[in-house]
Amino acid sequence: AIDIRDLRARTGYIALDPGYANTGSCESAITFIDGDRGILRYRGIPIEQFEQAPNFVEVAWLLIFGRLPSAEEYRAFSEQLTASANLDESMKHHFEGFPRSAPPMAILSAMINALSCFHPEYFELDDRAHFQAAAAGLISKIRTIAAYAYRHSVGQPYIYPNPRLPYVPNFLHMLFSQPYAEYVCDPLVRDALNLILILHADHEQNCSTSTVRMVGSSQANLFASCAAGVCALWGPLHGGANVAVIEMLEQIHRGQLSVEDYVRLAKDKNTKMRLMGFGHRIYKNLDPRAKILGRVAEQLLPKLGVKDPLLDIARRLEEIARNDPYFIERKLYPNVDFYSGILLRAIGIPTNMFTVIFAIGRLPGWIAHWWEQAQTEGMRIARPRQLYIGLTPSDYAPHESRV
Ligand code: ACO
Repeated sequence: AIDIRDLRARTGYIALDPGYANTGSCESAITFIDGDRGILRYRGIPIEQFEQAPNFVEVAWLLIFGRLPSAEEYRAFSEQLTASANLDESMKHHFEGFPRSAPPMAILSAMINALSCFHPEYFELDDRAHFQAAAAGLISKIRTIAAYAYRHSVGQPYIYPNPRLPYVPNFLHMLFSQPYAEYVCDPLVRDALNLILILHADHEQNCSTSTVRMVGSSQANLFASCAAGVCALWGPLHGGANVAVIEMLEQIHRGQLSVEDYVRLAKDKNTKMRLMGFGHRIYKNLDPRAKILGRVAEQLLPKLGVKDPLLDIARRLEEIARNDPYFIERKLYPNVDFYSGILLRAIGIPTNMFTVIFAIGRLPGWIAHWWEQAQTEGMRIARPRQLYIGLTPSDYAPHESRV
C-alpha cells in the first residue's frame, strides 16, 4: 500500500477514486479478506471453522474484543445480553407511530437511534467496561427491536424476551411465539440462524461498515453510528440484495421470465437489470460465505422437510452464469446474498425481515470497527475530497430580474 496522506502538500494533486475502489481508509486488525483466493478470516480464524458449533455470541465477542472469550468472559457477556434484552416500556409507543406497512429496516434504524435517548448511561464510553455494557446492550436490544418491528407489521402483540433462552432461540421466540403457544426452537433451525448471523458478522470496509466509521469519526455515539449503518445496509446493492434475490427467483418461478431470459437481460446494459446476489467489489472468486450457505441449504432443506423450487432455480442460474463468458470475464460469482434468502425462508423468516437479519448479524462488526477507530491514536474525522466540475464564478441575480 502507498501512503498518500500528504500527496496534496507534496504535489498539489488529490487522488480521485469514485466508490473508493482502491482507497484504504484505515488500518484494521479485525477481518482479513483475500478476494482472489476466496478467503475470509475473523481475527485470524477462517470462517469455515465456525460451522461446526455455530455460536453467534462467541463470534461477536471475538470480533469486538480481538480473541475468543474465556469461559468466564463468555458467561459474563451472556448475562449482560440477557439483562439488557428488554426495551424501555415507553419505546413501545414509538412502534405504534409507524404505519403497519413501514419497512422493518426503517423502524430498526429509527429505534437504534432512539436508544441514544433512553440510555445516556452508555455514552460514558471512555473505558472498556462501559463500552462492553453498551455493546452488549445494543447487540441484545437490536434483536428485541427487530422482533417488535415484525410483530407490529403483522398486527400481533409484542412478546417479551425470555431470560431463560439463549440469543437465537430468544429472538425466534419474540418473533413467532403466540400468547397461547410458545415457539419451540428446532436445534437445526437454531444452528442455521447462528451460522447465518456469523457469516454476516463482519466484512471489513463494506458500505455499511464504512458508514459506521464515517459517522463515528465525527465522535457521534455508538448508537447513532450503527443506526446510519442500518440505512446504508438497506440498499439493494448491499444488504437489501437478499430480498432482491428472492424477488428475482420468484419472478422466474412465476414464469414471468425464464432463467435464460434473466441472464440475458442482466447482461444487457440497456435494461439496468443485474443478476442479484452475483458480483462483489472484493471477491473475484467464489465468495466463501456463498459456498457455505449454498451447501448448508442443500443439506438443511431436506432435513427440515422443505422443498423449495427457488433452490433449484438458483442452482440453474448459478450454473448458467458460471459458464457464460460475460460473467467469467468480469469475475462475477455468487455472493453471500445469493443463497441466504433460501435458507431464511426454510427456517420460517418472512422476506421483509431478511435484511434485518443481515443487520443483526453485521452489528458486532460495526461495533468492532467503531471501537477500533475510537481507540486509534491520531484518529481524524473522515472527510474525502472532491473534484469540482460545476459552473465558473457568476453573480447572484435578484429574484425580479430572473426570467
Ligand atoms: N449482474 C450483471 N452484471 C454485473 C453484475 C451483476 N450482478 N455485477 C457487476 N456487473 C458488471 C457491471 O455491469 C460492470 O460491467 P462493465 O464492466 O461491462 O461495465 C462490471 O460487472 C463491474 O461491475 P461494477 O458495478 O463496476 O462492480 P462494483 O464492484 O462497483 O459492484 C456490486 C459490486 C455492487 C456487488 C455489483 O456486483 C452488483 O450490483 N451486484 C448485484 C447486487 C448484489 O448482489 N449486491 C450484494 C453484494 S454483497 C453485499 O453487499 C453483502
